[in-house]
Amino acid sequence: MRTVRFGVSLPENLIRNFDEWIRSKQYPNRSEAIRDLIRKALIDEAVQSDQVVLGVLNIVYDHHKRALSDELAHLQHDYYHLIISVTHVHLDHDNCLEVILLKGKARDVQRLSDKIIALKGVKHGKLYVTSVQNV
Ligand code: NI
Repeated sequence: MRTVRFGVSLPENLIRNFDEWIRSKQYPNRSEAIRDLIRKALIDEAVQSDQVVLGVLNIVYDHHKRALSDELAHLQHDYYHLIISVTHVHLDHDNCLEVILLKGKARDVQRLSDKIIALKGVKHGKLYVTSVQNV
């Protein structure tokens, strides 16, 4: 894809703080950092305007918890149209990690993730949202 150069004027203290941030995040240069920040803004906008997004939902749960595995399977079948894949890892004697890959309208992905995270026995859950549109 063709790239375009443009100049930006910034207050001195802002660029000083930005350069410090760039170093702490290990960006090789300002351009790469700015590209990522712009993409992040566009992905946030995609979520706000309920566009199709990809979601990676991580949950850690106790598989001894009565009925939880059944409830999880039940929910995943109810919302199969939002789920691309599920990876299950037996972490130790008690705990399981599930990585659920979702694709759909931002609100549907968020709502299903909230529902899963709120299940009794799910100890920790986190949704990461990304998009390939407009970025
Ligand atoms: Ni397991």
